[in-house]
Amino acid sequence: MGWCATILREDLAVIEPAPVPTHRLRHFTPLRYPGGKGKLAGFVKALLKANSLLDGEYVEPYAGGAAIALELLLHEYVSRIHINDVSRPIHAFWKSALSYTDELCGLIRDVPLTTEEWDAQKAVLSHPDDHDDLAVGFATFYLNRTNRSGILNGGIIGGRDQTGPWKIDARFNAPELITRITAIARMRSRITLTRKDALKYLKAGSQKWPDKTLVYLDPPYFVKGRELYHDFYQPDDHADVAKFVVGGGLRQRWMVSYDNVKEIRALYTAARHVTYDIGYSARSARTGSEVMFFADGLKVPPDLGTVKTKSVQQNLEV
Ligand SMILES: C[S@@+](CC[C@H](N)C(=O)[O-])C[C@H]1O[C@@H](n2cnc3c(N)ncnc32)[C@H](O)[C@@H]1O
Repeated sequence: MGWCATILREDLAVIEPAPVPTHRLRHFTPLRYPGGKGKLAGFVKALLKANSLLDGEYVEPYAGGAAIALELLLHEYVSRIHINDVSRPIHAFWKSALSYTDELCGLIRDVPLTTEEWDAQKAVLSHPDDHDDLAVGFATFYLNRTNRSGILNGGIIGGRDQTGPWKIDARFNAPELITRITAIARMRSRITLTRKDALKYLKAGSQKWPDKTLVYLDPPYFVKGRELYHDFYQPDDHADVAKFVVGGGLRQRWMVSYDNVKEIRALYTAARHVTYDIGYSARSARTGSEVMFFADGLKVPPDLGTVKTKSVQQNLEV
């Protein structure tokens, strides 16, 4: 057929040609991400609407798998997304997806799913400076899809002897992943990709981004960041970001999410917050294990969609 309704925003009813069946996609990001926030996309959509931010811009300084950003763009909630991540592997993956799309998709289609290939891709990531963005980006993707929980320095799904109930190919549905990457690449003119330290990025970006922009900060977890990410923060780094954001450094409206620990709550005492559970395999499912803080004046929708809200501070505006 080649024609399908690709635009899912309620107030737009547009029929557009689509070379790939994106309407069948439930998720847009091709990366599995520890701490990925895809489940909050419905909440962010409601928040954009409540604050008259539809068709504005959306910034993620710690983009990782960029699940929310991509859903907002592909469902036409925002006109442009800015995704930034300081991690070379993550940046190289997004760079490859956007700039070397055909080459990346060809590699995904043809690569064997074996422990020998896993070792070869692991070797690329062990010496990233010896390789170009496509090689590093593809190795990142390969390990992300074949490792337990998508953790880059984690073990192979099914173990080295491949005797586990799930095997190395359990999360590597190549046609589906190629469809996601192709759908994203078609939007490349509306995606800005950078690789900067988040705080420097925010300081410079805040001067340029329009007022009608939402900035969503999802920094590395305070407690488990070291285990989960290639790049993580020390306590002082978390404090510097909080000082900038709570201290009024951003002209645009913002929200920040974290693991719900007292050290982080202490940094954001001036901001309203909700706590919630998102339930990752890489994390414990304790009550209210995450917390989100909001800029003054940002209207916060009453529930977080599929995510369980545990406590809402009384003075949240709805
Ligand atoms: C909690 S994850 C973000 C997950 C993302 N929101 C998602 O849904 O997939 C934190 C990210 O911050 C990145 N990061 C760590 N230190 C950074 C820094 N100084 N500047 C920018 N990004 C950084 C890590 O590489 C990681 O991808």
